[in-house]
Amino acid sequence: MAGNLGCYNIADLRERARRRLPLGIWEYAERGVEDEVGMARNRAAFEAITFRPRVLRGVERVDTSTEIFGKVLPFPLAIAPTGAAGLMWHKGDLALARAAAKAGVPFIISSASTMDLEQIAEAGGRPWFQLYLWEDRSLSHAVVDRAWRVGCEALFVTLDLPVPPNREYIQRNGFGTPFKLNARNTLDVLTHPRWLAGVMGRYMLEGGIPTQANLPDRLRAKITKGAPPGALFKQDDLDWDGVKQLRDRWPGKLVLKGVLHPEDAETALALGADGIVVSNHGGRALDCSMASMDALPAIVEAVGGRLTVFLDSGVRRGSDIVKAVACGADVVLAGRAPLYGLAAFGERGVTHAIELLRTETSRTMAMIGARTIGEVRAAMAGESHGE
Ligand SMILES: Cc1cc2nc3c(=O)[nH]c(=O)nc-3n(C[C@H](O)[C@H](O)[C@H](O)COP(=O)(O)O)c2cc1C
Repeated sequence: MAGNLGCYNIADLRERARRRLPLGIWEYAERGVEDEVGMARNRAAFEAITFRPRVLRGVERVDTSTEIFGKVLPFPLAIAPTGAAGLMWHKGDLALARAAAKAGVPFIISSASTMDLEQIAEAGGRPWFQLYLWEDRSLSHAVVDRAWRVGCEALFVTLDLPVPPNREYIQRNGFGTPFKLNARNTLDVLTHPRWLAGVMGRYMLEGGIPTQANLPDRLRAKITKGAPPGALFKQDDLDWDGVKQLRDRWPGKLVLKGVLHPEDAETALALGADGIVVSNHGGRALDCSMASMDALPAIVEAVGGRLTVFLDSGVRRGSDIVKAVACGADVVLAGRAPLYGLAAFGERGVTHAIELLRTETSRTMAMIGARTIGEVRAAMAGESHGE
């Protein structure tokens, strides 16, 4: 197949992924919560932003690179943590990490991954680690220490799921955890033979799909069994003191993920965080949450230049990345976009998703007359001052 895998944009990869995955797995990757208006709101916020292009700027050489935590990125993108990558592709976490490493793009390992972080970090590149807190906090602290030992330079603590999200579709499709076979999901799996053989079958040969792979051996469970006591994520009792404990423990960069209020961003700064992710979890947490792009300007106003500002939720085009940067984000995270590539083609699909986003970023910059990321930022600053 041609280098472009027959997919000319992220939407093409999405369609391939949808066809390849059993409905239950696809829904987990794609869907939001409740009435799913939050996802549409994320997209609408991007679509509402337009550029007033500048012409005759000499754009034969566009430099998309930017610097984050003292190191250069090829363009302002990092791969968001996505716990279920291992269900999209056999050892999907590793495939994501390898493609990211080859592209020079940072990859955030999820604490809900189905491979342990040491194995994923073997891909090299620039691994970061995302943390959900287990009910038994000592488990989380032990995982954080491991992440530091394998060389993760940044810890992302996800704050926007204080309670489990309302995923009603999981109750219908029967793909919850513990996973139980029923008439509907058995038929679903059997009618997707490539996934059955290539993903499920390979895990079965290895003894089953692991879940909670970052827990100590004695607490790990297969996806067909429930989590043992203490080994469930529980954050409804997490407060700023809990985050302070993590700050004191973690020697690297600390980033708080899922911040939408400028006052929370200011508290993060005061507490010694290095960054925040302006995010509504891709519309997977609170359906009536504001779009992260709508939250961005007030946050940039409050802490821009003093905290590294990441943004995610709804990124599907390079132009979305340019828009986020123009509105003050330093780096953008993509969650579903690389997952579509992964589910469709494995590592090469992820590589393709990253390459699509990179070329679209470069083309958009040329179109608006911005030769550097600095010029993207300056262009928007000029707009807001009415120049
Ligand atoms: C299948 C899936 C699994 C996810 N798992 C995690 C996770 O384990 N930890 C986390 O902080 N965010 C998780 N997220 C949220 C992403 O990190 C990110 O915030 C979101 O996907 C961004 O929106 P986008 O998918 O529109 O790019 C997950 C998202 C998806 C789609």
